[in-house]
Amino acid sequence: MSKVLLVIGHPDLSQSKANAALVDAVRDLAHVTVHDLYATYPDFQIDADAERALLAEHDVIVFQHPVFWYNTTPLFKQWQDKVFTFGWAFTMDGSSSQLAGKKAIVAVTAGVPGDHYTPEGANQATLETLLSSWHATLRLCQFDIQPMVKVYGTAFGLSDEDLAIAAKQYNELLASFAA
Ligand SMILES: Cc1cc2nc3c(=O)[nH]c(=O)nc-3n(C[C@H](O)[C@H](O)[C@H](O)COP(=O)(O)O)c2cc1C
Repeated sequence: MSKVLLVIGHPDLSQSKANAALVDAVRDLAHVTVHDLYATYPDFQIDADAERALLAEHDVIVFQHPVFWYNTTPLFKQWQDKVFTFGWAFTMDGSSSQLAGKKAIVAVTAGVPGDHYTPEGANQATLETLLSSWHATLRLCQFDIQPMVKVYGTAFGLSDEDLAIAAKQYNELLASFAA
């Protein structure tokens, strides 16, 4: 059984609809640890040693956040800066990483519909392209990068039924690591 660490970078999960629905869909899975960064570090003072210990204990790491200005949220960036340190998370020659081989899933919610995130659409790029620093970071840290989970239209167009389907699929994805 793989242990899953779900790291959440939503500024206030109590005010969230989409991210909260995703978290609620997996919260009761016994092999999933839910870790809310903003609730843990309201002062942005990350305990990097504690975070590295959490990462070391888990086999699958899920990085979940709403898309803010085509990027991750500020505390998640701070978390990357403090936790993915040279020598522990990466070396320049790729010789070692304490994260090597762990599965990584970036899971994001975007306010606008999916057709905005195409080369022809309003944003002229996919979310994979716009969030490519996640991919580069996870690659440098030698994660086994899995497909991105994307929930579009949270501010425009996503129905409650659509969100319930996305939450069910999220549950099924994370439940699959229990096997
Ligand atoms: C500061 C800010 C920046 C945002 N930037 C984007 C963006 O670049 N692209 C986008 O699709 N949605 C953007 N949104 C919308 C959020 O992604 C949306 O509110 C979020 O997915 C809703 O999730 P929640 O229900 O969990 O709060 C932004 C929202 C805020 C507050």
